[in-house]
Amino acid sequence: MNNNPYIAEKAKLIRITPETAIDSTFTIAWDKPVKPGQFLEISIPGAGEAPISISDFNDGELSMTIRKVGRVTGALFDMKEGDTLFARGPYGNGFEYNYYAGTNLKIIAGGTGLAPVKNLIKTFMEPRYVNSLEVLLGFKTPEDILFKNEVLSWVESATAILTVDNGNYDWKGNSGLITQYIPQLDLNKPQDCVCIVVGPPVMIKFVLADLLTRDVPRENIWVSFERNMSCGIGKCGHCKIDNTYICLDGPVFRLPDTMKLID
Ligand SMILES: Cc1cc2nc3c(=O)[nH]c(=O)nc-3n(C[C@H](O)[C@H](O)[C@H](O)COP(=O)(O)OP(=O)(O)OC[C@H]3O[C@@H](n4cnc5c(N)ncnc54)[C@H](O)[C@@H]3O)c2cc1C
Ligand code: FES
Repeated sequence: MNNNPYIAEKAKLIRITPETAIDSTFTIAWDKPVKPGQFLEISIPGAGEAPISISDFNDGELSMTIRKVGRVTGALFDMKEGDTLFARGPYGNGFEYNYYAGTNLKIIAGGTGLAPVKNLIKTFMEPRYVNSLEVLLGFKTPEDILFKNEVLSWVESATAILTVDNGNYDWKGNSGLITQYIPQLDLNKPQDCVCIVVGPPVMIKFVLADLLTRDVPRENIWVSFERNMSCGIGKCGHCKIDNTYICLDGPVFRLPDTMKLID
């Protein structure tokens, strides 16, 4: 048995599902246990390696929703269904179902931040897991909406509020920043609410400020961070802030443990 933690395993690319002009969901064959919020290190020979969140999983399949931004992701977008890539993981703590079971849960996600919580939302839509679930989602434009059919079905079932920063002529839904729609969440008894916030740093910052002014207790707020990672296993130090390794201790944190990580 090889104990080198950097050795990645082959994974067959089963399906590629375009989401937007620059994001696609890549589904691979995968049989190791994973949790929502964890990530894999995906590598492609000649291109390199990149950490990518798990957006969904079931029955021997695992999906990742990826934006084409550089070498590794560019090489992924050149692949075809049936090709083989390399993956190691899962890494990171992920979301623990137990922490949210029976709560009045609010999940607030911006842009690609929806990917790491997609499976969690699907799980918690089953009423037996949480007392109540409200989802607030924001994207830049209607063309940037990920998992469009599922998201629209969540809106239809009144589980989710969806907004885009800039609507176009055809857009009949909400427009404006995600923070504008926080008042539509039921935060009347803030002590009874648990909130998960995922998205770009600037969104996280303003959403947290708003939730705190509404007296949601800090210890009831969870944040997931995607930043500055390389090895994913606590060896390279890229993700270390003070004594915190985001790759090992996170990427999911309870707010009081994370103030120093917020820009
Ligand atoms: C825990 C975690 C989870 C993540 N999950 C996801 C996910 O689910 N989906 C996803 O899409 N991403 C995710 N990311 C981000 C992803 O890992 C990065 O985008 C990664 O850098 C992509 O690798 P790459 O080789 O394709 O890009 P790189 O080549 O490393 O490029 C990264 C950035 O640098 C810029 N850049 C590249 N080359 C140049 C150049 N020559 N000059 C100037 N700028 C340049 C690119 O525009 C891009 O913004 C995650 C990151 C972390 C830490
Ligand atoms: S990514 Fe290398 S130590 Fe965290």
